[in-house]
Amino acid sequence: MKPIPLWVLPISLLLLFNPSNSADDVVKQTLLNFFKNLSNGNIPKDPKFFGWNSSSDPCSWQGINCDTQLSVKRVVLENLELSGILDTNSICSVSSLTVLSAQNNSIHGGIPSEILNCKRLTHLYLNNNQFSGNLPESLSRLNNLKRLFVFNNNFSGNLPDLPKISGLLSFLAQNNQLTGEIPQFNFENLVAFNVSFNNFSGPVPELGGRFGTNSLIGNSGLCGKLVEKLCPPPVSEKVSPKKRDVERVLMFLGYSLLALVFIMFFTFKIIFRKKTKGKEVEHKKKKAVMDSPINHSSETNDSKTPMSKSEYSMASSNESDMMSSSLVVLTNPAMKELKFEDLLRAPAELLGRGRYGCLYKVMFDDGINLAVKRIKDWTISPEDFQKRMRTIDQAKHPNVLPVVAFYCAKQEKLVVYEYQKNGSLFQILQGGESGKFYWDSRLSVASSIAEGLAFMHKELYEDGISHGNLKSSNILMNKNMDPCISEYGLMAVDSPAPSPVGHANKSMNQRRGRPDYPFKADIFNFGVILLELLTGKLAQNNGLNLANWVHSAVREEWTVEVFDKALVTEGASEERMVSLLQVALKCLNPSPESRPNLNQVVTMINTIKEEEEMPSIVSEP
Ligand SMILES: *[C@@H]1O[C@H](CO)[C@@H](O)[C@H](O)[C@H]1NC(C)=O
Ligand SMILES: *[C@@H]1O[C@H](CO)[C@@H](O)[C@H](O)[C@H]1NC(C)=O
Repeated sequence: MKPIPLWVLPISLLLLFNPSNSADDVVKQTLLNFFKNLSNGNIPKDPKFFGWNSSSDPCSWQGINCDTQLSVKRVVLENLELSGILDTNSICSVSSLTVLSAQNNSIHGGIPSEILNCKRLTHLYLNNNQFSGNLPESLSRLNNLKRLFVFNNNFSGNLPDLPKISGLLSFLAQNNQLTGEIPQFNFENLVAFNVSFNNFSGPVPELGGRFGTNSLIGNSGLCGKLVEKLCPPPVSEKVSPKKRDVERVLMFLGYSLLALVFIMFFTFKIIFRKKTKGKEVEHKKKKAVMDSPINHSSETNDSKTPMSKSEYSMASSNESDMMSSSLVVLTNPAMKELKFEDLLRAPAELLGRGRYGCLYKVMFDDGINLAVKRIKDWTISPEDFQKRMRTIDQAKHPNVLPVVAFYCAKQEKLVVYEYQKNGSLFQILQGGESGKFYWDSRLSVASSIAEGLAFMHKELYEDGISHGNLKSSNILMNKNMDPCISEYGLMAVDSPAPSPVGHANKSMNQRRGRPDYPFKADIFNFGVILLELLTGKLAQNNGLNLANWVHSAVREEWTVEVFDKALVTEGASEERMVSLLQVALKCLNPSPESRPNLNQVVTMINTIKEEEEMPSIVSEP
């Protein structure tokens, strides 16, 4: 390797220690460009806007809000008679942007599809302008969007696939020229919806009882019960003979292509096999070396205890005949080939030992790592276990870690997940680096966990499957550092801890045929996680101690004392920390019946999150 010349060092150090300035300049210039296009080059009459110039810090400009790390979060330019166009190329290169409002101006032109690059956008307010053209399909890929206001414009064309945005709270599009059918939004989640006075047609979707005709008036082409107009019966498309011919030709072409692909595939396979035969022998040798006990013991140290094969396969070894057949691999395509023998053969390391079993990390040659939970003393029958795992597999949410495979024998149950190398929430809080775990990250961790858990509770309520063992060490950070709930449903909750009042209520609920006690226990445990996020302290065992401590502090009106010092130092809003603490205390209510359900919790947390993102916009049409 070539030695690095000495002069490179100071320059790279300079780059390292002075990154903010150059980045700031780029952001500043970008914002000025955006403003120039939006205002059509005119300076607004409001004298405050003279603040927008390249010699000052953007965070001090009128209409711009930054967070504590001086990243631009909100750009709010309302009521300024701006008559230019929306330059998404500029504004969406400000990657920290969450709120963009340009309502009540005279902006014309369309929303460019580059709006897609405003990935973190949660609020987009473009209402009361002269926008025209389609709402671009890329809008539906803004996964974080909560509020989309485009009403009182001149938008036309069909709607993009907005129901794809799972967290959308409002969609207001009245008084435009929009056409096509109204898609089936998840109306249960929407708090505001209006598409009145457009040119929508076709059947009115199921509005879930939340919205009425008032949200759809002035669309003469709509039909259905709600608008008291019969929908015409669906006409089966008449296929012209000419079209049929074309179809036939296309089909024939498709088959030929498929055949060709098959032939090529097998030819390749034969050639490839011949070539690799030699290599395979070598590979096998290597594997044998890795599996030998000598290799295991050389890895031993305090923190990583490699699991010996005998410990891992203790109960299963005598049943080894049925093993390979009863590892059930679920829907993950990358893992289709996984065999129980592979799990046993690969080197493994003990990650943790809990009340209900042990967790291992299993490492494969090809770099794939799995986490294997081995559950002990669970009296569930293999059939019930299998059914349970399949039911859980049906419910999929981005904030819930999917099960890759499971294995079930009489005495042993294994559940396999993809290994998450970024660790758990517990580790982050324990790591002592809580100073770098900022308030807005904690708030979004809380909101994501709540959303994931709410989803699972909704999907699995009928089956009575709660999480059963929710705690911060079961919240794993995925590769994007988004929290994922792991080990969902691996424990049937039957002990009514942690609340002393639990017993009485449990039997009461069961008598009523609503065994929702386990779900209420999850909510208690979620409350404990909220406390951990707020206090930076970790709950031991069932979290009762932490909860009691916080309860007594609040009673004595020392509320502020409970918050993590790092949050206070960071300057997090005390008002909103107190709001989140109140949510936590509701979840920790000693009487399970009085705890809120998770949908309510999600709404409460998201309201706090929204206040965090935009304290100034209070009005909501
Ligand atoms: C809205 O667009 C239509 C064409 O789509 C045009 O005829 C009409 O003048 C526009 N209205 C306004 C207020 O810009
Ligand atoms: C929807 O918008 C129309 C037109 O502005 C208005 O008349 C109607 O009351 C609105 N509906 C709701 C539910 O707010």
